[in-house]
Amino acid sequence: MENKIKRNEFLKSLGFKGASLLAVYCGASTLSSCKNDSGVTPSGSVDFTIDLSNAAYSKLNTVGSFLVYNQVVIARTSSAATGFAAVTQICSHEGQPQVYFTGGGFACPVHGATFSLSGAKTNNVSSKGITAYQTALSGTSLRVFS
Ligand code: FES
Repeated sequence: MENKIKRNEFLKSLGFKGASLLAVYCGASTLSSCKNDSGVTPSGSVDFTIDLSNAAYSKLNTVGSFLVYNQVVIARTSSAATGFAAVTQICSHEGQPQVYFTGGGFACPVHGATFSLSGAKTNNVSSKGITAYQTALSGTSLRVFS
């Protein structure tokens, strides 16, 4: 973590910031998820709609399933129309894009941080929670937004 902070400060001193800083991290990473990075950052605003009748997203019709779209982890938490939870894929601990749905909340496998369905931290691995988003289901259209 210390190295990352130093690197962050070093890059900032060179004039990198925001999206370009994120791109630098992704470029140095071996994580394939960065290849599809569409520029959504943990603190950026999110607003997109996916169609749950589309095979690519239909797993969200099954309680307990989740998928990642635009670095947002979307989980089906119950069969109710309100039974969704959405959080950033970016862990608040050291910024790894590896947050996943555990069935009862969210977790990051890198160092074991855990989070509630609303993104609050539920252990002390990370000092803070992760950004959660709102969801709204209309027919088969699920909107995820800040
Ligand atoms: S980066 Fe997620 S637990 Fe450390």
